[in-house]
Amino acid sequence: MAIYAVTGSASGMGRAAADRLRAAGHTVIGVDLRDAEVIADLSTPEGRRAAITAVLAAAGPRLDGAVLAAGLGPGKGDERLRLIAEVNYFGTVELLEGWREALAAAGGAKVVIFSSNSTTTVPLVSSRTIRAFLKGDRAKAVASTKLMGDNAGAFVYAGSKIALTRWMRRAAVRAEWIGAGIRLNAVAPGAILTPLLQAQLDDPETAGAIESFPVPAGGFGTPEGIAAWVEFMLSPAADFLVGSQIIVDGGTDAYFRSDDW
Ligand code: NAI
Repeated sequence: MAIYAVTGSASGMGRAAADRLRAAGHTVIGVDLRDAEVIADLSTPEGRRAAITAVLAAAGPRLDGAVLAAGLGPGKGDERLRLIAEVNYFGTVELLEGWREALAAAGGAKVVIFSSNSTTTVPLVSSRTIRAFLKGDRAKAVASTKLMGDNAGAFVYAGSKIALTRWMRRAAVRAEWIGAGIRLNAVAPGAILTPLLQAQLDDPETAGAIESFPVPAGGFGTPEGIAAWVEFMLSPAADFLVGSQIIVDGGTDAYFRSDDW
């Protein structure tokens, strides 16, 4: 049985993934602000370092895989924009870099990063935002969205996820990752009914946009449905999956971009 680190394990899709992996007999080291084996704040460099160290201490010399689900949805205000950028991008990339040697030691580790279908469905995300993330410049990434006014949160969010997917695809094929047997892939959910989406549905300012967003399959996805994809992407069936982003969104991406292929 394998040992997995799962961030965002206290809620939503991270929690569903952790539950499913545990039910299959695996050991899960959850990382979250609360209700987890490792309590850490991934919005600060110190919190991220603490999470890296604590997971390595709990896992021992090898980590068979990781699921990076901690994240925040779009919101308003400077502090919220900072949190989205810090947790969604740096809270994934820095943890993986810190765990790389332990993942390599497993010889065939698999990693699932949580991206989003906003990577393909949010138009006009500035290349400056994405470049700033990839250069590790959080302040510039956030500042580059200021012209968007009240909508800046949506652009920091989509920018953080585009940069994350781009980081993942670049790293996935480099010798230090795939050469060490580590498969990096991403799942990109659409509208999944978790506390994150529920908060947007409860907010009169965002509910309309969520409810009118086209989902050809109808309704919302479930955290358990995404957890099944995560388990599959960690399984031997996914040995040949490297650097892929799997969009699971009820058809929204195909609706907007059917000919964009
Ligand atoms: P959720 O809000 O239910 O769970 C997110 C978890 O991340 C929570 O347990 C929270 O405590 C943790 N977290 C937040 N800030 C943290 C911090 N500073 N340090 C440590 N942990 C922190 O959200 P959900 O919906 O399960 O989202 C999981 C991932 O999927 C996120 O990365 C999100 O961006 C992404 N996603 C969600 C979609 C949705 O419709 N729900 C759609 C597309 C992507």
